[in-house]
Amino acid sequence: MQINDNFCKLPGSYLFSEIARRVAGYTGEHPEAALIRLGIGDVTRPLPPAVLAAMHAAVDEQGSAETFRGYGPEQGYPFLREAMARYDFQARGAEISADEIFISDGAKSDCGNIGDLFGPGNRVAVCDPVYPAYVDTNAMAGRAGEYDKVRERWTELCYMPCTAENGFTPDLPDGAVDLIYLCFPNNPTGAVATREQLKRWVDYANDCGAVILFDAAYEAFITEPEIPHSIFEIEGARTCAIEFRSFSKTAGFTGTRCAATAIPGELVRGGASLRELWNRRQCTKFNGTPYIVQRGAEAVYTAEGRRQVEENIAYYLSNARTIREGLAAAGLKVSGGVNSPYVWVGTPNGMPSWDFFDLLLQRANVVTTPGAGFGPSGEGYIRLTGFGGAEDTAQAVERIKRIL
Ligand code: MLT
Repeated sequence: MQINDNFCKLPGSYLFSEIARRVAGYTGEHPEAALIRLGIGDVTRPLPPAVLAAMHAAVDEQGSAETFRGYGPEQGYPFLREAMARYDFQARGAEISADEIFISDGAKSDCGNIGDLFGPGNRVAVCDPVYPAYVDTNAMAGRAGEYDKVRERWTELCYMPCTAENGFTPDLPDGAVDLIYLCFPNNPTGAVATREQLKRWVDYANDCGAVILFDAAYEAFITEPEIPHSIFEIEGARTCAIEFRSFSKTAGFTGTRCAATAIPGELVRGGASLRELWNRRQCTKFNGTPYIVQRGAEAVYTAEGRRQVEENIAYYLSNARTIREGLAAAGLKVSGGVNSPYVWVGTPNGMPSWDFFDLLLQRANVVTTPGAGFGPSGEGYIRLTGFGGAEDTAQAVERIKRIL
């Protein structure tokens, strides 16, 4: 028996599992501690009423023989694919049609599963710091090489540092790469990319034949009108990019699960249409997102749904501002939180990230995410999310200020 021993090369546990383990250890010893959780980016506002109403109606449909639906199309129902194409893409000048959109149960799954389309020898570029799922799934597929414990990085990955010096948006990689993961608004730094910056990436990818895997899970948080929401707003992207969309952070679907991947018909590599390969993959390994969930997601695009979603986003962005302004007033270096629910905070006096994480957990009873968990350039930072309750968030900031 041979197992996929790439799994054995993975260091420790997945970042958010490790944080949960440490938090559980602490609460086990201090059951009285009233923790405020601003660590994992999980939403706290309930589903918008328009979504709930649509899901209730769909539940009733499933309860009657006349309207009952079994297996749906693996690509997603046309009603949702068409609504996304119209409102998420075409309304912003991005030419994506319904048949280029594949509905799924999560952007995290899609970001990992997309690797099925690419051979093990491809060179992969990731931002540093980076959402750990991109790195770990490539390590599982054998594209990351070996984990170098001393340098805290994988030998075959191309890391693109995102630092205060470059405004947390990476420069083009040194050598040629085949796959480039970009996430804007960025997790974890909260940075955004301008149209000009994205154009440089698109031109680079078209020149060298690379594919950009663009994670737009946080696009709904963009407040500055000139910032693109989709890579497909950029000329040339249809021949070099795949985009991931999510209802999780936008409409509160972290526990409900619905997302989508957009792959343009013109995206061809090695003589194969990547849209066709993905379609083949999904038909083989996936039986579609539940009908009830897709009806709920469709309601996000109604006038009511859009208004309710905007209210939730404004709520989370207001929390992000509370964090940003509170911690800046306390003398910490902060960025993000303007077009993003995430605030990226420099640790005091360059304290190691995990030490500051432990200090905040134990002395302020506030759960954060240590920047080092997102990659070597995350050392010296922590990430806080605006996804908590408003009162909790304000209290967390006060507690942090008190111990600084
Ligand atoms: C995060 O905290 O970075 C997110 O919750 C990750 C995710 O969406 O999977």
